[in-house]
Amino acid sequence: MTLRIALVGAGAMGTIMARDVYPALVEQVTVAAVVDRDRHRRAELADGLGARAYGSLAQALAAEHLDGVDVRLPHAAHADVAVEALDAGLHVLVEKPLALTAEDCRRAASAADRAGRVVAIAENYPHLRAVRAARAAIDDGAVGEVLALRSTRAYTLGDEWARPWRLGGEAASGLLWDQGTHHTSMLRVLGGEIVAVAAHRAGGAAGVETVTLDVRFASGLLGSSLYCWGTPARAVETEGLVLGTRAQLDIDVAYERPDGVARLVDGTGSRTICAAESYYDSHRWIVADWADAIATDRPPLVGLAAATADVRVVLAARESLARGGAEVPLGPPT
Ligand SMILES: NC(=O)c1ccc[n+]([C@@H]2O[C@H](COP(=O)([O-])OP(=O)(O)OC[C@H]3O[C@@H](n4cnc5c(N)ncnc54)[C@H](O)[C@@H]3O)[C@@H](O)[C@H]2O)c1
Repeated sequence: MTLRIALVGAGAMGTIMARDVYPALVEQVTVAAVVDRDRHRRAELADGLGARAYGSLAQALAAEHLDGVDVRLPHAAHADVAVEALDAGLHVLVEKPLALTAEDCRRAASAADRAGRVVAIAENYPHLRAVRAARAAIDDGAVGEVLALRSTRAYTLGDEWARPWRLGGEAASGLLWDQGTHHTSMLRVLGGEIVAVAAHRAGGAAGVETVTLDVRFASGLLGSSLYCWGTPARAVETEGLVLGTRAQLDIDVAYERPDGVARLVDGTGSRTICAAESYYDSHRWIVADWADAIATDRPPLVGLAAATADVRVVLAARESLARGGAEVPLGPPT
């Protein structure tokens, strides 16, 4: 049985889902409705998918028989639309970040409990083969004792990504909200829970911004993340680095071609430890994981608890920025 869903958000990300992802998953998912405020965008994607177009989720809910909702909206709308879908009894896949406040994370979790439906968050890095292989290499002892972690995400926003809501001026905009949960999710897969963060930021013109995070893990391990908007993107970038006593791990992420891998590097050389992939493959794997989690009644790879932990790190980083870079403890989850 295929899952009948509404794709909510027909912008840049919704277009990738409609054009590249859902056509490859027709055995598992049927997109019955496309929802967007923008009449032209929703009509174009709905036509391509053979779906019907609606101006709001409420209209789609009233007219269609749906099992789930895929939310690809600007950050500020995620929590409300996810809760609206859960309250209608539907499964939810929602873009990162899950929400912009701890209270909204809790609201989504309560709605999921009431509905008894599967909520997956479209957080790509835990799905990447390279990240999973790196975690397995750490577990196997190939790295020795892990001493430190580092991540780097540096690129320039292309035209369709440089929307006003993303660039700045709104509480939910900027580099930290846009990319912070992404690399936090990777660091948490590799290093475990993060218990404190200190953040710094430098910004120039719209879309030119640098943010650094120093993170402390529950294990005592230290890590750092460097985010930069405004520099040319590399076709393949070493976004993750694990430093261990026996070896190091490079996590190379590729956006143009399928040549992202994880490499184990020691005194004798470098060895690739996973099949090559493109970052864009992970959009498909996320939906396939969500659909399989629903079909087999198991948790998705990235669910509410993990996404809430990622949001809490970003919230603590924002507090650190407001406090001049002071280290901010996350405190126990509430
Ligand atoms: N995982 C990734 O790699 C990745 C990459 C890019 C974007 N994203 C995420 O995807 C989401 C969408 O980003 P985007 O770049 O597609 O944005 P976008 O601005 O291109 O598209 C958003 C769309 O939502 C519509 N919209 C806004 N509010 C609405 C509402 N309340 N009801 C109906 N329609 C509404 C807008 O008309 C627009 O078409 C964001 O959460 C972003 O972080 C994720």
